[in-house]
Amino acid sequence: MKNIAVFASGRGTNFNAIAQAVKKKSLKVNLALLVCDNPKAPVLDKARRLKVKTALVKREDFATKKDFEKTIIRFLKKNKISLVVMAGFMRLLSAFFVKAYKNRIVNIHPALLPSFKGAHAIKDAFAYGVKATGVTVHFVDEAMDHGPIILQREVAVKESDTLGSLEARIHRVEHQLYPEAIQLIVQGKIRLKGRRARITGR
Ligand code: GAR
Repeated sequence: MKNIAVFASGRGTNFNAIAQAVKKKSLKVNLALLVCDNPKAPVLDKARRLKVKTALVKREDFATKKDFEKTIIRFLKKNKISLVVMAGFMRLLSAFFVKAYKNRIVNIHPALLPSFKGAHAIKDAFAYGVKATGVTVHFVDEAMDHGPIILQREVAVKESDTLGSLEARIHRVEHQLYPEAIQLIVQGKIRLKGRRARITGR
């Protein structure tokens, strides 16, 4: 089974959804490591409870971003990680890191990319007044919220929605879509051609 590492900076509801899918065996990976950059993140407690090994790596402990990322890469190598799963890790990875794990880093974004990139996608889409938004899982490249799209799922915006109710629905979709996308990747069912990711044999 492949070893995966989840990178998270905050609440960790996606981390938890991945851990539950692993437990249920609908996602057949070994959740070998949580990488976290924020000592106050609630995801750390979730990992402790679920007995997932944690690497807390704080950016301020390093003079340069490269030193910070080199330390993370050392943790990944030590734990034989073959897929990096970004789940609310609120830092942009440098070209150096992306190159080291080329096509082996995925991210989840709470909007239909390329619309509403950035850290406030749900709020931005709601404020814009879109009638449909959704969730995107994609490979990570050097640009923010940009790499080849693996799966997308639409979420309709209802007339009665508040930002909170829309957020809740989007998160529910995230928690289903992310384990599904990871399972497709580890099964070797995603073929990349340029920036198009084709799903084979599903
Ligand atoms: C998720 O909604 C994820 O899509 C978003 O951060 C949240 C983390 O929640 N990521 C981005 O906005 C990336 N641009 P979680 O900590 O509860 O999983």
